Amino acid sequence: MSDKLWIFDTTLRDGEQVPGCQLNTQEKIVVAKALEDLGVDIIEAGFPISSPGDFNSVVEISKAVSNPIICALSRAVEKDIEVAAQALKFAKKGRIHTGIGVSPYHIQYKLRSTPEDIIARGVAAVKFAKKFVEDVEFYAEDAGRSEPDFLCKIIEEVIKAGATVVNIPDTTGYCLPEQYGAIIASLKNNVPNIDKAIIATHCHNDLGMATANTVAGVQNGARQVEVTINGIGERAGNTSMEEVVMAIKCHQSIPVHTDIVTQKIYHTSRLVSKLMNMPVQPNKAIVGRNAFAHSSGIHQDGVLKHRENYEIIDPKEVGVEESSIVLTARSGRAALKHHLDALGVELEGDELREVYEAFLVLADRKRDIGRKDLLELVGKYMEESNFIELEKISYSSNGSINANVTLKIGNQTHQASSPGVGPVDAVLKAIEKIVTPQVDLEEFLIQAITHGSDDVAKVHMRLIKGDKPYYGFASDQDIVMASAQAFVDALNKIPVKEYATA
Ligand code: KIV
Ligand code: ZN
Repeated sequence: MSDKLWIFDTTLRDGEQVPGCQLNTQEKIVVAKALEDLGVDIIEAGFPISSPGDFNSVVEISKAVSNPIICALSRAVEKDIEVAAQALKFAKKGRIHTGIGVSPYHIQYKLRSTPEDIIARGVAAVKFAKKFVEDVEFYAEDAGRSEPDFLCKIIEEVIKAGATVVNIPDTTGYCLPEQYGAIIASLKNNVPNIDKAIIATHCHNDLGMATANTVAGVQNGARQVEVTINGIGERAGNTSMEEVVMAIKCHQSIPVHTDIVTQKIYHTSRLVSKLMNMPVQPNKAIVGRNAFAHSSGIHQDGVLKHRENYEIIDPKEVGVEESSIVLTARSGRAALKHHLDALGVELEGDELREVYEAFLVLADRKRDIGRKDLLELVGKYMEESNFIELEKISYSSNGSINANVTLKIGNQTHQASSPGVGPVDAVLKAIEKIVTPQVDLEEFLIQAITHGSDDVAKVHMRLIKGDKPYYGFASDQDIVMASAQAFVDALNKIPVKEYATA
């Protein structure tokens, strides 16, 4: 049996330090419960001395969550440690995470101290924390740029003082994987009492190396990884949990396993993104919108023949329903046929060839080929087009909010009105009255593009129909219009045969 790798999630502490990502206590509890469901072992719930809000969040998360260890951060300062201990009083399993800077930069310029004094302060902090909890983690801040002998010395001393976990942060994201791996190996080989503590990695992503460094740390003996969902965190972020967990799952040569329920990764990623207002970049490994999207003809043909030709992870393993085949000018006939089949249009031989040629001409001119384009291309092979067009929206708010919507479906015009809790809700409900595909709106992200008062809102939606996801995108200066257009865009991607129109 391989070793257990402890997953320490710091989304709610290091991740939440990102400007604009702050959550209130209720939102933090929602995230903490999702992390518990995901199978995280340790949740770093906050830095209690930093603000009454952070203190309260650690208290409430401790009450709300049962299985994971709840960890509170402190500096190597008695008052910090006391406050961390108070915040943890309801935790079923509590951990204090205390530490101090250990690199020449931190010792000389930040702490204006000496190496001997730093060791004494680290040891005193661990001993003081031990008065409150058994489980004490020590962080050697900026260990990535520390002197190896000094790092070994302070780690040996804090373990003697009772540290159960020793955290070796690459605080500035400076290390290369080989260097970070060597730091962990040097601790394993040179610290006489290292077997009395678990070594933790804590990597930042300033050079885009956080995941590689973390994996190198594990390969050299670390057995706890400190990570965040979607890799959010200070500056360029922290190590992304989903990347490390899946790298370990894909590579059996790394002799560890985690207890993460990987099928819940995508859901947790979207929850964090939505609550923290932090869109996931489309090409983000594992959870990006394009992580399982294939757009070139060679790849599409390969994936359609056998998924593993171009995918190392089955999307279902991370909670993504299926890979997507995106239509572009580089798509082949297999991809076009795949999409036409989904629209209920079965073409073969010369008919397919003819439509494919027309498709290539169109795809050269147009970046995104949608359902409407395909239906127009195959118009002569279909009896009617069911394309949905948004003709008009309006809404009023005299006490209660009411929206009117006009849609054109094929050649027919349909109108409906609906109340709602806000204009967006009312407009979407009115659209649903006309088009009744019974979808679940699973994800709804609004992003400002330029941040000015005349800003353009970019809306991204994910609808679920049956088991399948359908994405809609739109941008407009009017958020309600952008939302309605994104909704219609997603509806247009649902195969015609799934629809019933009122
Ligand atoms: O990056 C870092 O060094 C930290 C410590 C406070 C653990 O976040
Ligand atoms: Zn950090």
